[in-house]
Amino acid sequence: MGDSLGKTWSDRFDEGLHPFIEQFNASIEFDICLLEEDLDGSIAHARMLGMQGIITKEEAIKLENGLEEIRKSAADGLFQPDISDEDVHFAVEKKLISLIGPIGKKLHTGRSRNDQVGTDLRLWLRKRIDEIDNDLKRFQVSLFLLAEKNLHTLIPGYTHLQRAQPLSLAHHLLAYVEMAQRDRNRLEDVRKRVNISPLGAAALAGTSICINRDITSADLQFQDIYTNSLDAVSDRDFVVEFLGASSLIMAHLSRLSEEVILWASEEFAFIKLTDRCATGSSLMPQKKNPDVPELVRGKSGRVFGHLQAMLTMIKGLPLAYNKDFQEDKEAIFDSVKTVRDSLKAISILFEEGLIFRKEKLNKAVLSDFSNATDVADYLVAKEVPFREAYQLVGRIVKECLEEEILLTDISLDRWKKFNTFFEEDIYDKLLPSSVVESRLSDGGTGFERVGEQLFLWREKLFE
Ligand code: ARG
Repeated sequence: MGDSLGKTWSDRFDEGLHPFIEQFNASIEFDICLLEEDLDGSIAHARMLGMQGIITKEEAIKLENGLEEIRKSAADGLFQPDISDEDVHFAVEKKLISLIGPIGKKLHTGRSRNDQVGTDLRLWLRKRIDEIDNDLKRFQVSLFLLAEKNLHTLIPGYTHLQRAQPLSLAHHLLAYVEMAQRDRNRLEDVRKRVNISPLGAAALAGTSICINRDITSADLQFQDIYTNSLDAVSDRDFVVEFLGASSLIMAHLSRLSEEVILWASEEFAFIKLTDRCATGSSLMPQKKNPDVPELVRGKSGRVFGHLQAMLTMIKGLPLAYNKDFQEDKEAIFDSVKTVRDSLKAISILFEEGLIFRKEKLNKAVLSDFSNATDVADYLVAKEVPFREAYQLVGRIVKECLEEEILLTDISLDRWKKFNTFFEEDIYDKLLPSSVVESRLSDGGTGFERVGEQLFLWREKLFE
């Protein structure tokens, strides 16, 4: 290797790279965001080299100080690598040598960029997972606080996007809190496999230098080390797993977004968007558009795409490291940004961007046949077989539809003609609030059940 880290390769090379290929090959433009982690990993490696007597204690300290100096100059905006540095790992090494001289050339002893990049990426992703967990929690809290205020607010429930049965609005919102909890649990699980140290696997086969992988692993607070060096440098399962978990987060946000968009339409009119989170039209002065949920719904595709790209990227790769892996960075970086931004935007939307229109919701649950199941259940309570009750109520609804009346408009005489079991109390049963109140099975929308869930979620989210 020449004196400066100049072209980085060994004396095996006579000629420099074609300028376009140099650019094509470089990842510095995006992997510079791994700088913190690259420094952390290198410091742990340098300390271990010192502890093992591979370099002297003084040399190890010089390496560590030099690396910390790079951290400082980066914070001051003075560390600005360019394309010729190729990637963050070379950029740091080159800068270190220019700062502390030839001792800097000892840093890479017993290490390869292959185990180094895997280490950096895992350290970076571990932090981001913790941040996303926080974002998910804020999202849960924003839904929960609305739910808590709306236990007794009713909203039509749908199947096939057809009115089905009325619900407690809190129940509807808590369904998304549950999804977000699964998202958090999934990330927690992915984190276990992110949190394993590949450092010390070297290029692919381990090293003849007497390194100690447990020391670097402990220093970097990894939970474990990879037991197979080939697997260590070629495993990107954790990337796919993370993108899978991220895709589900985006799918959940997208479903919720779709509901908000529907609710804000004139046709549903269940919510009003506040000025904080809605935009106008450049042409139509009357418009107020739900851009936030539309953007989130639209952005979900990016993350799904990255997941697909990573599966495709790894599926044909022979062991061990292949440059294809460099493609994982932008997929992960963009996914993290997309997921975090989307969670934040949707949280703000639920914190201050929308207002439920209770009078409209009230009217909505009163003006349909979503209490029809309850008429059948009424007869079932009087020991009419369900299928028979179901047939009868079907006939009653049909007659109502023909006459353009609701079940509540039927006189008691007429109810009795349908079936003598009907009594005055049928009218009570037809009230949407009674309909909801009666759904007391576990996990049902009955106020009592939802109240219990709110209590449990308050404990969980504010403990
Ligand atoms: N920039 C590379 C990456 O992102 C670093 C590892 C390069 N290793 C190598 N043998 N070319 O994967």
